[in-house]
Amino acid sequence: MMTEQSLHKRAGNIKFIHITDTHLLDAPEETFHCLNTKENLERVLSESLRRYSDIDFILFTGDISQTGTAESYILFKSVLQGYEFPVYCVPGNHDTPKLLQHVIPDVPESSINVIALGEFSLVLLNSRVDDGHHGMVTQCCLQQLEAHLRNSGDQFNIIAIHHPPVLINSKWLDKLGLKNQREFLRVIQKYSQNILLVCGHVHQEVDQQIDGLRLLATPSTCHQYEANSEHMSRTATPAPAYRYVSLSRKNNVDTTVHYI
Ligand SMILES: [Fe+2]
Repeated sequence: MMTEQSLHKRAGNIKFIHITDTHLLDAPEETFHCLNTKENLERVLSESLRRYSDIDFILFTGDISQTGTAESYILFKSVLQGYEFPVYCVPGNHDTPKLLQHVIPDVPESSINVIALGEFSLVLLNSRVDDGHHGMVTQCCLQQLEAHLRNSGDQFNIIAIHHPPVLINSKWLDKLGLKNQREFLRVIQKYSQNILLVCGHVHQEVDQQIDGLRLLATPSTCHQYEANSEHMSRTATPAPAYRYVSLSRKNNVDTTVHYI
């Protein structure tokens, strides 16, 4: 699916806020390991948009919901109400894409979804599977992605996917990673000069170059995980976070993670 969006941006530059792993529950007062995830998301949205009011869009990279229920997405919709920025989103392992599409219609499920943003394309991918918390990109989506990259010429592609296609040196999280990461990287690496990869899932800051391919992952708006950890371990001070990205056509990425 290809969607054209008009931008109020300057040519050759695009700016966005990356928010991920909000893990919303079913009711506004509910808490997740002592954190109110709805209030955290509200704080992140209001702080980030006060600081960066000239962004082109907000990108969410999955695990919007902890429960995957209709109620949790109604809560998501209520938090977004009142903000006029375009919002794009990919599903995470905790999400139910069909229900999330009621709030964000562009959420990808069985196909990739490409949003045309002037000289940039935002490529939205679904990596969730029905039988676990690891990720996988289907053969069909890999073929669509390859065809899109082959035909996109000079377009710069921001590829959004919940599961990062790399190991991050945390045994337990790496087990829950993208199972066909090698195959995925093989498809995109040929075009790495024209790609920025943006991921969620790992609840920590990642900024890696893999053979010229830049990969960013962002801490969540709720709990963060300790880096380089054998077992699941949450950080003691789980400040909610977001990432700001300013990208120029020449692949100059200016990015900052902010903790609130
Ligand atoms: Fe996840």
